[in-house]
Amino acid sequence: MARVDVKNVSLSFGAYRALNDVSISFADGGFYALLGPSGSGKTTLLRMIAGFEYPDEGSILIGGEAVESVPVDKRRIGMVFQNYAIFPNMSVAENVAFGLRVRGEKGAGVEKAVSDALDLVQLGHLAKRRPHQLSGGQRQRVALARAIVTKPRVLLLDEPLSALDKGLRKDMQIELKRIQREVGVTTIFVTHDQDEALSISDRIGILKDGAIVQEGAPEEIYDRPRSEFAATFLGEANIIEGTAEGGRLTLENGVSIPLPQEAARSSGHLRCAIRPERVHVVPGGLASVNLSQAGTLTGIVRHKLFSGSLSTYSIDCDGRQFQAIVPRTGEDDIRMGSPVEVTWKKEDLIILA
Ligand SMILES: Nc1ncnc2c1ncn2[C@@H]1O[C@H](COP(=O)(O)OP(=O)(O)OP(=O)(O)O)[C@@H](O)[C@H]1O
Ligand SMILES: [Mg+2]
Repeated sequence: MARVDVKNVSLSFGAYRALNDVSISFADGGFYALLGPSGSGKTTLLRMIAGFEYPDEGSILIGGEAVESVPVDKRRIGMVFQNYAIFPNMSVAENVAFGLRVRGEKGAGVEKAVSDALDLVQLGHLAKRRPHQLSGGQRQRVALARAIVTKPRVLLLDEPLSALDKGLRKDMQIELKRIQREVGVTTIFVTHDQDEALSISDRIGILKDGAIVQEGAPEEIYDRPRSEFAATFLGEANIIEGTAEGGRLTLENGVSIPLPQEAARSSGHLRCAIRPERVHVVPGGLASVNLSQAGTLTGIVRHKLFSGSLSTYSIDCDGRQFQAIVPRTGEDDIRMGSPVEVTWKKEDLIILA
């Protein structure tokens, strides 16, 4: 197992800068999710760690050693790509043995390693089957077994679950996390799915236009996004802006709201975010809140999106749509088209860069 350090790495394809001064460290044994819009450089970063791309500037260290001069097959990395091509003409066991055979390994050692890897992904009983006799999730697990059988120091997974339906995907997320814990391999996992990133990783890196915009534990990024991009890419956020002075923020419509302690000394233009689940909706617009401790806006209820245990309300506050998530138990008196107050604790306001 090994840590991976990406240091000031840039890469251009012609005039296009696909990675722009990327620095990020992946701790030994950690489970990292890389998240970002299409084209932000996620695959390029993985390919570079694996050795398929070479940085124009900067360096990559695996286990503390620069790997510029180390070819792909000597980096001891396991990869599963989005289109996890497993060989259709080989059995499950032969597929998994492939990486070991390429290395020239033979005999009982290979059989043992293959059976251990298949047990790990719970496919031992299907070793003799061909890929077309497997479900999507089982094929995915063959690809995973094939990547881990060589005992890689680092496992790179490029959207490995994207082809699966929702139910299977949830099962595989749990499986993947279990396998990663058992093997303890440093894992870098690319996903488009923010819930997936939040639920299975120890840490998340967010990429935008070839640069890391924020890196941290899931809770940290969710609770303390530093930019509007991070706030809205990972979860939903209401954005509020205004002029800060004396611990309060004056909005365009003249309403003044309290700022959290950390921004008590801020002055000038400020952008903030508030998560919809932190917003309380008070019907009738008669909230008895302490205005020095809580932010309050008045608005009209415009839409309701029902999703079972809770509903998301869209509230028009002077032309700005404010989202509030309300549990079933709290929405009895909220009526479409009626006036409400939306309030939140001042400490729930997130200050953006
Ligand atoms: N070999 C290449 N030649 C030219 N441009 C490339 C090459 N590989 C990638 N790119 C460009 O670099 C950018 C980053 O690509 P990359 O595949 O890393 O994106 P991604 O974040 O993985 O996107 P997706 O979520 O769609 O998979 C894209 O604009 C892509 O078109
Ligand atoms: Mg990609």
